[in-house]
Amino acid sequence: MRSLYKVYLATLSLTILVGARQHSPLRYSRTAKTYSIQDYYQGDDFFNDWDFYTGSDPSGGNVIYQSKSDAQSKGLAYVNGTSDSDNDNDNDNDNDNGDTDSASSSSSSSSPIVLAIDSTSTVAAGGKRDAVRISSSKSYTGGLFVLDASKMPVGCSTWPSFWTVGPDWPYGGEIDIVEGINDQAKNQMTLHSGTSNTCTIDTDDSDEYTGSVLSSNCYSTESDDSGCSIMDSSSTSFAYGFNDADGGVFALLWDNSTGMAMWHFARADIPDDLTAQAPTPSTWGTPSGFWSEKTCDITDNFYEHQMVIDTTICGNWAGGDAYSSSGCSGKCTDMVADASNYVDAKWVINYVAVYQ
Ligand SMILES: *[C@@H]1O[C@H](CO)[C@@H](O)[C@H](O)[C@H]1NC(C)=O
Ligand SMILES: *[C@@H]1O[C@H](CO)[C@@H](O)[C@H](O)[C@H]1NC(C)=O
Repeated sequence: MRSLYKVYLATLSLTILVGARQHSPLRYSRTAKTYSIQDYYQGDDFFNDWDFYTGSDPSGGNVIYQSKSDAQSKGLAYVNGTSDSDNDNDNDNDNDNGDTDSASSSSSSSSPIVLAIDSTSTVAAGGKRDAVRISSSKSYTGGLFVLDASKMPVGCSTWPSFWTVGPDWPYGGEIDIVEGINDQAKNQMTLHSGTSNTCTIDTDDSDEYTGSVLSSNCYSTESDDSGCSIMDSSSTSFAYGFNDADGGVFALLWDNSTGMAMWHFARADIPDDLTAQAPTPSTWGTPSGFWSEKTCDITDNFYEHQMVIDTTICGNWAGGDAYSSSGCSGKCTDMVADASNYVDAKWVINYVAVYQ
């Protein structure tokens, strides 16, 4: 998300450097572990566990990130509907594995979380529009991270992302699980690492992921931070294609001993074990993206990550050369003036979960 140089990647995104192989089996087997809920973020208690970032956008976007009270009073961050009060105890950050109430309530029956960009105010061309960027109060070093959303922000000039980030960037690392710009058709997954320990995508083992490698060196610095990216092969993995499929699930499995794996499932394809809150990712098939521990030092490059959900407008990726090459008309920073461009610039989130 932080990237200054995604401009470069965006121009590469149509030039596939390494071809996808869809149906090959995994060469290395993962532990057949069933994960247990550590934290389940949903419903009325959702915002108790996330911090609102109010600094200027490090990506240079045309946004003013709102405090919690401002975001809530302006209708930019809310729980849509009132959930059954009996479910309140399920939302605690305690381990509630085995809580049948929680497990039996399907994700869509809990009141969704909405994170929006202001779509009513008039703003000058090139000005800034109110928006939201939240981070989990808790940080994690490993586990299975899941986002279930029915809608993600769409529209020319938007740049939504669900990502995780550690301290002392780039040394603590950054993992972009969902990211793209200007209605990009497919999701772009990226790792950023410091430069002291090995971290590349294992392009010799391209049957370990179904996506296409855009760039394989994960090293990131302040002046060169494109990171190592894999583009999902599915057109339901981002923007309108995602929303038309009633959204779905993105999952990151961060496993010190094998690497980082990411999956996207359209709503109709969500694995039953995940819906039942007892996920066994080894049964999910080849991930869309995989960063092998063999070519990336996971424990030294990635630690103490907070999860982040945000949307920015334009900025150095969406608003750069990529804007016109995305097929969007006019100038990115002119888009910000028209509130109606942001009516669908919303995350509608059923839950975020962390399993260990
Ligand atoms: C909020 O819920 C109402 C009622 O279900 C629905 O019509 C509306 O689209 C929801 N809003 C968002 C942003 O999803
Ligand atoms: C991964 O390794 C780090 C560093 O050794 C450790 O702190 C962390 O607990 C490990 N994560 C898991 C899930 O075992």
